[in-house]
Amino acid sequence: MIEPTRQLITAGNTAFLQHTVKQLLGYGWSVSHAVNAHKAIELLDKKPCQIGLIAIDPSTSILPLEIDSSPRLADISWIAIVERNELSHEKTREQIFNTCYAYQIHPIDARKLDTVMESALAMANLQGTHPIPTLSCLDDEYQIVGNSPTVQLLYRTIAKVAAANAPVLITGESGTGKELTAHAIHAHSSRRHGPFNVVNCGALPSGLIQSELFGHEKGAFTGANQRKVGIIENSQGGTLFLDEIGDLPLDLQVNLLRFLENLKVLRVGGLQEIPVDVRVLAATHVDLDVAVGRGAFREDLYHRLNVLQVRVPALKEHLEDIEALARFFFQKFSAEKPTKVCGFSHECLTVMRQHHWPGNIRELVNRVRRSMVMCEHRLITPADMGLERRHRLSRDVDTLQQIRDAAEYEAIRAALIRNKHNVMRASIELGVSRVTLYRLLEKHGIEKNGCHDERQAIHVSSR
Ligand SMILES: Nc1ncnc2c1ncn2[C@@H]1O[C@H](COP(=O)(O)OP(=O)(O)OP(=O)(O)O)[C@@H](O)[C@H]1O
Ligand SMILES: [Mg+2]
Repeated sequence: MIEPTRQLITAGNTAFLQHTVKQLLGYGWSVSHAVNAHKAIELLDKKPCQIGLIAIDPSTSILPLEIDSSPRLADISWIAIVERNELSHEKTREQIFNTCYAYQIHPIDARKLDTVMESALAMANLQGTHPIPTLSCLDDEYQIVGNSPTVQLLYRTIAKVAAANAPVLITGESGTGKELTAHAIHAHSSRRHGPFNVVNCGALPSGLIQSELFGHEKGAFTGANQRKVGIIENSQGGTLFLDEIGDLPLDLQVNLLRFLENLKVLRVGGLQEIPVDVRVLAATHVDLDVAVGRGAFREDLYHRLNVLQVRVPALKEHLEDIEALARFFFQKFSAEKPTKVCGFSHECLTVMRQHHWPGNIRELVNRVRRSMVMCEHRLITPADMGLERRHRLSRDVDTLQQIRDAAEYEAIRAALIRNKHNVMRASIELGVSRVTLYRLLEKHGIEKNGCHDERQAIHVSSR
């Protein structure tokens, strides 16, 4: 974790600010004052900072800087200082809500403000400054994102099976990343410079699959005007990924089995078998065991394909990765199309961690894409993502106790994730006893399942 810098930028009504700033110096904040947006950006170039204090002038009732005018300014967590009666203006309330992290009523209690700023700083450090953990591939397009114990286990399995040459059966729910996993296996194998070809066994008409996979000779059947080299032959020296293998018709399962046993293909209408050096990876979201049981899948082929297995976890099994994944897709889509949106609100991240994600990572990709189109503010809200809002907003928080609770909740959650859900280690890091940490877990509704099993996920129930 990066050490937070207690650097602060201020803007707006100086009479309001003077006294406050003097007090904040006593709390260790270094302050620079910007007279306008242009000056603020200049100051940020010289002294980067994450926290801003913005005082609303009672004579205008509007924010003195157009925060949304620049991503540099929108990136700052702003805390507004406002007179209580100013909050009766709808425009003022709307501006604060859309652009600020929190607000404080004038006259300011410096201790309370320091706590709010510290919480904003901690939050800013949680979001955005640390690198997104990935399993790097040769091609950036196929990066696997995640750092949870569950995904670490996936990385290790990928590395092990990549070093072998036997077929691999990749299983997992729809949208979990089976195809991405197949890419990663290929990219980490000695075949990485060879081709990577994909056949979706469920998408091809059954009459075409045979010649698609094995090729045909000229005149082999009506309409075969030319020789066609099949995709297996075309994968020479590389990897062939057979997606939705459970949909392969039974007659072709025999041919595939024969190929896997002798690594030779016979084109349709051909007389001579052709040796091909190709590794087969197969994926399915159906339970092949069950398919074998009801006679829809050959048992011998099942065992031949199932030499090595990779199970790709559902997103609900590694919710700790949701923030990194969401930020990864956010950055990817921002690079494709520049946006004024800066990231996800704290509440949005909380709601994301509570959603069940039946569509797994594909659902997340689509929701992030949608939210970037729908978002009208600086930060993406649960509504922008089409997710239900079940909790109070952190920016609704206005008592010191509520601010402390929110900060405490975040600190505990982050410590548990950093310590791979080991309560003992997390309690040492947080400087509290294990008993106290258990009490706090109960207070915040954070359930810890199986402290001894590092692969267990933390479940956060409704607070
Ligand atoms: N760990 C991950 N990191 C980054 N992106 C991921 C990850 N897992 C999946 N994705 C992305 O999610 C989307 C779905 O992944 P993929 O197509 O590999 O899933 P699948 O399991 O093959 O789905 P289906 O069963 O529907 O065919 C893709 O856009 C992929 O890039
Ligand atoms: Mg797929």
